[in-house]
Amino acid sequence: MSRPKPLRKAVLPVAGLGTRFLPATKAMPKEMLTVVDRPLIQYAIDEARAAGIEEFCLITGRGKDSLIDYFDIAYELESTLRERNKTDALKALEPSSIEAGSLVAVRQQEPLGLGHAIWCARSFIGDDPFAILLPDDIVKSGVPCMKQLADAYYQTGGSVVAVTEVPRAHTNRYGILKTGKDDGRLVEVQGLVEKPKPEDAPSNLSVIGRYILTADVMKYLAKLEKGAGGEVQLTDAMAKTIGEAPFHGLRYEGERFDCGNKIGFLEAQIAFSLDRPDLAGEVKEFLKKYS
Ligand code: G1P
Repeated sequence: MSRPKPLRKAVLPVAGLGTRFLPATKAMPKEMLTVVDRPLIQYAIDEARAAGIEEFCLITGRGKDSLIDYFDIAYELESTLRERNKTDALKALEPSSIEAGSLVAVRQQEPLGLGHAIWCARSFIGDDPFAILLPDDIVKSGVPCMKQLADAYYQTGGSVVAVTEVPRAHTNRYGILKTGKDDGRLVEVQGLVEKPKPEDAPSNLSVIGRYILTADVMKYLAKLEKGAGGEVQLTDAMAKTIGEAPFHGLRYEGERFDCGNKIGFLEAQIAFSLDRPDLAGEVKEFLKKYS
């Protein structure tokens, strides 16, 4: 196997309307909703950076410009904090700074599906391998999930998606794997189906919002064929690359929270605050009141 190309790029689709969180998301992107004290988009950027990723492409839509502002310099705020010697507050801002030229944004003018969103990043991707992080999903783990995927990418030299078992009744919410050789951690992908009914699902191994793909997928996305729900599905384009290069699912270590729905979002608040030494004690204490 020749050495895989280094993974340096990530695409973050953030064009969704966030209808499940209205009215909160009426005038603000859902990716700016906070878990404890950081917006969802920050979790995704931090995780990508931990995997050595340095270049980011946001796939945005109308009304999403505050996501770009978030990664800009906040001169007034920062100089006021400096004048007042608020070093902790300045430190808290650090992760939201991205090197000049390392963040680009592309507008997906119409909501035509996740596959279409990724296709909008074609100039950014070029011929390079790239990560996709869906910021709705956040993963609490020892080794950041994307770093686990990157290690698997360098090991296998092909595409890798993060997978987890779901109850059979839930297969219609996810991309589902048809599995081949399986060592308990890495599983060969033989097929992929978008949101199959439980009775049609080839397994109960689902794809979460973390992917590393080789640029091969782009030629299939470019066909803009519609799949499940009448949308251009990333899952369908990925399925077409099977057989051309290695493709694996990685049973990542960690816990995923689907912050695209209310219960997942609320659970994430609890789990992530209990993980914080500065908050855990008091949170545990007040939770007793409600159990
Ligand atoms: C998307 C993908 C699906 C994947 C899921 C992970 O679905 O289409 O294959 O399993 O993300 O969160 P969505 O959640 O956008 O409906």
